[in-house]
This record gives sequence, C-alpha cells and structure tokens, in this order.
Amino acid sequence: HPPTTQMEGSSVVSRANCRAKGGAPGFKVAILGAAGGIGQSLSMLMKMNPLVSVLHLYDVVNTPGVTADVSHMDTVAVVRGFLGQQQLESALTGMDLVIIPAGVPRKPGMTRDDLFKINAGIVKTLCEGVAKCCPHAIVGLISNPVNSTVPIAAEVFKKAGTYDPKKLLGVTTLDVVRANTFVAEVLGIDPREVNVPVVGGHAGVTILPLLSQVKPPCSFTPEEINYLTDRIQNGGTEVVEAKAGTGSATLSMAFAAAKFADACLRGLRGDAGVIECSYVSSQVTELPFFATKVRLGRTGAEEIFPLGPLNEYERAGLEKAKKELAESIQKGASFINK
Ligand code: NAI
Repeated sequence: HPPTTQMEGSSVVSRANCRAKGGAPGFKVAILGAAGGIGQSLSMLMKMNPLVSVLHLYDVVNTPGVTADVSHMDTVAVVRGFLGQQQLESALTGMDLVIIPAGVPRKPGMTRDDLFKINAGIVKTLCEGVAKCCPHAIVGLISNPVNSTVPIAAEVFKKAGTYDPKKLLGVTTLDVVRANTFVAEVLGIDPREVNVPVVGGHAGVTILPLLSQVKPPCSFTPEEINYLTDRIQNGGTEVVEAKAGTGSATLSMAFAAAKFADACLRGLRGDAGVIECSYVSSQVTELPFFATKVRLGRTGAEEIFPLGPLNEYERAGLEKAKKELAESIQKGASFINK
C-alpha cells in the first residue's frame, strides 16, 4: 500500500495525494517551524481540522519524523514534509494559509524583545518565501516578539510588492484564551461561555484586556481587575518560569493557534460573523499596527472593529500600551529598512 504521506523529494506517489489534487474540498495550510514545541502540537491539531485538505510541515530540523507521525492519523488532510531552506519554496507554493511558529522561545528572565535578534531574521527569510510562492495566502504570525515581527513581515511584503494588510495577522489568540480562562475562574462559570476582548499587542503592558466588555456582562471588584489584568499580561511569564528554562507556552499556544487558524479557514470559506482578536494593520489608534477584534472573511481581516467604550483604568492602560507598542513597531520596521 502506498503511504498517505511523503517527504519532498521522495518518489512515492500516494493515492491520497491524487485525491487531494483532484479537488477534495478544503484548504491548503503550511506550518513553518512545524517540528518545534508549538509546531508539533499545532501540526496534530491542524491534521484534525476537516477544513484542511493539504497540510505542509516545514522546519529546518526533524520534519521527516513529525510528518511520518502526524500522517498516520486517519483524518482527511494529506500531510507532506519539507526540510531545510532549499525546500521552503515547495512547502509554500499554492498555500491558502501559512502559520509561522518558527524561532526561539523565551527562557526565565527574558522578555519577548530579547528574542528579536534571532527571530527577526527567521521571520524575514520565511516571509520572503511567502511573497515569492504564495503572495495571496493569509499569514498568521506567532514568532515573538509579535509586536515587531508583524511590522517586519509588512516591510518584507511591501518590498516585494505583495503587501495586503488584510492578509497579515499577528496571532494574539493565546491572550484571549488565557483571559477567558482566568475570568471564568473568578466568575465560577464555564470558560467556553466567556469572551474577553484583549487589544493592543502581545507583550507585557501592551496586552490590554477589556474587562469592562466581558461577555456575558459582569462586574469585578478593583482587586479582581488588578489581579486579572496582571495575570493576563504575565500569563506567558508564568509558563516560562514553571518550565524553568525548557521553553515557553507550547500546548496552550498550539490550541490557541488552531482556534485562530480554524477561524481564518471559516472566513475563507465565506462563513458570516467570524470574529477574533488579532494584531493587524489598523487605524483604530494612531499606531500603524494594533490588536482589536477583526472580522475574518474570504480576503482575510475584512473589518476591524473600534475599541468600544473604555473605562478610566483601561484608558490609562491604553496609553502605556501605545507607548511601548510604538517603539516595538519602529524597531521592526527599521530592521528591514536600515
Ligand atoms: P521551539 O524552539 O520549540 O520551536 C521553534 C522551531 O522553529 C524549531 O523546530 C526550529 O527548528 C524552528 N526554526 C528555527 N529557525 C527556523 C527557520 N529559519 N525556518 C523554519 N523553522 C525554523 O519554540 P516554540 O516554543 O515552538 O516557540 C516558537 C515561537 O513562538 C517563539 O518565538 C515563541 O516566542 C513564540 N510564541 C508565541 C506566542 C504567541 O502568543 N504569539 C506564544 C508562545 C510562543
């Protein structure tokens, strides 16, 4: 029996491959950094998504093992693996959605900005590949510091003449997932019923939960607001410290990324009312990038929602967030334009 997967360059032709080429419904998704902590779990979760017909797994190490492993799951997506820079273009050609969790994670004592030096170059290279091979794909960027890597990607796409602001999305879903969990704990209700808008960016004080807009409507004491805001802003550090030098959030991040990717795919399919928070090109504030609720459609982030009414606590938080975000955006853009 022919295997239902193959590594790029292998001579095996599988029937599943032929079926996918024959037009099985679904979308083509690539994960760049697929052999990493986030990448492996995310690869598994995307293989489980019935909207995915083809799943390309790319990394600079270890993709053959991850690809063989994930491909044995009896779900519809056809899995193909790609190893190393020389296979990046094959990994990207024809993709509808590219998710990027490539790059180094934090260790205790590090900020997300400490990752800039290494991850900026990785994101630049990968986005140059996207511009060349799948310029119309939606790109979901996970690699930190997201506040700077999204502006880096935008500059790469502008240089290549392929920039479509609707299609470049920084993944901040983990902040929303954490906020929903922590708020549900305080309220003593099912987290699946809670929706907390988290706006701004994805690092420390730039992560701004709008607790005045929580659904279902509820109120918090000032102590609860301080506790929740602090825990949501530092949820990443809580995991980094608990993992004690072995990495940062991977499982909850893969869960959040899979949720986000599913929303992108439902949008691409034409579903109505698909709304997620994401860090995008924006005119909601004076900053060129900002995370808010966006509506996902066939062409990406088709509508960007305003912040809505903020209370005094949130307005103060917004000013702090904007100050740090402005610097991170500038740092990203000048990495490409230096
Ligand atoms: P990891 O180190 O476990 O995995 C990263 C993977 O990227 C590795 O397999 C590595 O080989 C690969 N990689 C390195 N250079 C590459 C290149 N040029 N092309 C393709 N792949 C390459 O790290 P982990 O824990 O999976 O985290 C990945 C990134 O996600 C980090 O930057 C981390 O800070 C970020 N992150 C973002 C979150 C968010 O909410 N947006 C949350 C958690 C982590």
